[in-house]
Amino acid sequence: MEIPVWYPFPWHPPLEVPEAVRNLRRRAVVEVMLPTGDPALLVTRYKDVLSLFADPRLSRNIARPDAARITRDNDRFSDPNIDPDPPAHTRVRGLVTRALTGSRVEALRPVARGVVDALLDAMAAQPRPVDLNRALAFPLPLRVMCELLGVPAGERARCRELVDGFLSVTRLPPPEVRRARLGLRRYLDELIQSKRDTPGDDLVSALIRVTDGEGDRLTEHELGYWTEGLLIAGYVTTASQLGTGTAVLLHRRDLVEEIRGDWALIPTAVEELLRMQIMSSSIGTMRYATTDIELSDGTVIKKGSSVVLAAESANVDEDVFENPFTLDIRRRENHHLSFGAGPHLCVGADLARMQLQVATEALLRRFPDIRLARPGEELTRGADGFCEGFSEIPVTW
Ligand code: HEM
Repeated sequence: MEIPVWYPFPWHPPLEVPEAVRNLRRRAVVEVMLPTGDPALLVTRYKDVLSLFADPRLSRNIARPDAARITRDNDRFSDPNIDPDPPAHTRVRGLVTRALTGSRVEALRPVARGVVDALLDAMAAQPRPVDLNRALAFPLPLRVMCELLGVPAGERARCRELVDGFLSVTRLPPPEVRRARLGLRRYLDELIQSKRDTPGDDLVSALIRVTDGEGDRLTEHELGYWTEGLLIAGYVTTASQLGTGTAVLLHRRDLVEEIRGDWALIPTAVEELLRMQIMSSSIGTMRYATTDIELSDGTVIKKGSSVVLAAESANVDEDVFENPFTLDIRRRENHHLSFGAGPHLCVGADLARMQLQVATEALLRRFPDIRLARPGEELTRGADGFCEGFSEIPVTW
């Protein structure tokens, strides 16, 4: 293999596991070059990725002069006032998960259904083709996150503008990205203050109230950081997964027909589309080796290396998944790592699953003949965010 290998890999072919990922596991670790020009080590095998997610020798703190940067300014990923490693992280995360309960997620299911129905009504009234991203994939998770966090209806448009600016890593010039970031933080500070004054049933109010057994609470800074983190992590990931996952399904009419014949397949189909992880690389799961780490095959990750835990490669590891390159919407044993693992395991996984299931089923029921309006091979990615979903997904019916 040529060195350096650029990462993220090219998304080719667009609707399948990328070619570059197919034979990656021949080596346990691959040296890559990131868009920032910084080198990193990509861990490729399921067994290693899983165990390293929980390995205390890998730190999530990349606010270090010799650590690789995820984005050029790296602000969000290296807040000097936040310790992202256990035990400090475990304490804060425990408070957050206490507030983000299973019943809170379930209570959002009818809300998500209502939002999806309204979005599909609007979609049906539009001239075809319609861009699925604009019609459904992006508005749904943003509405759900606003609902979860208690953003008043009249402020959603402003919130979306601020979040989109925040996520425009390359689309906007740096001063504008910085302005959007400051604007978002200021907006969220105002939101938090309004929830202090008038608490509601929302998650921000719950985060303000939440205490652990010893009466510990989130500090003001932690509250702002996590509210922002939830909004960002909850919105664009789910949106990109819903867009890319649906595009894959629509490209495979046979699978759509299979689901139509048995709607109970929706949860396993959604899980399998998550396993494929074609909506984003794993660049967000960057770690820093605080000491030498020897992997099971004897490969050594040197102290001071930046490490990317490549879920997209682990998810197609032949040692773990039968026929890993086959999209099997009936797959039962599907312990993919698209939500990570260990102390940073995605706190919103159930919320994401719920939305993906509700939206996929409603879309296929509402438009029995829905299909891509352009050949799947022609879909292109807009690499202007942390996620790299398709810039546009034209559909017709
Ligand atoms: C398909 C949708 C989603 C995917 C693929 C996804 C993926 C991930 C991954 C891989 C991580 C681990 C990061 C790491 O180890 O460094 C993570 C963490 C996180 N996710 Fe998600 N996520 C999704 C949806 C959501 C939603 C809906 C929310 C909000 C409700 C959310 C909130 C978070 C937060 C706050 C963390 C940090 C947890 C921690 O550091 O302890 N995510 N997510």
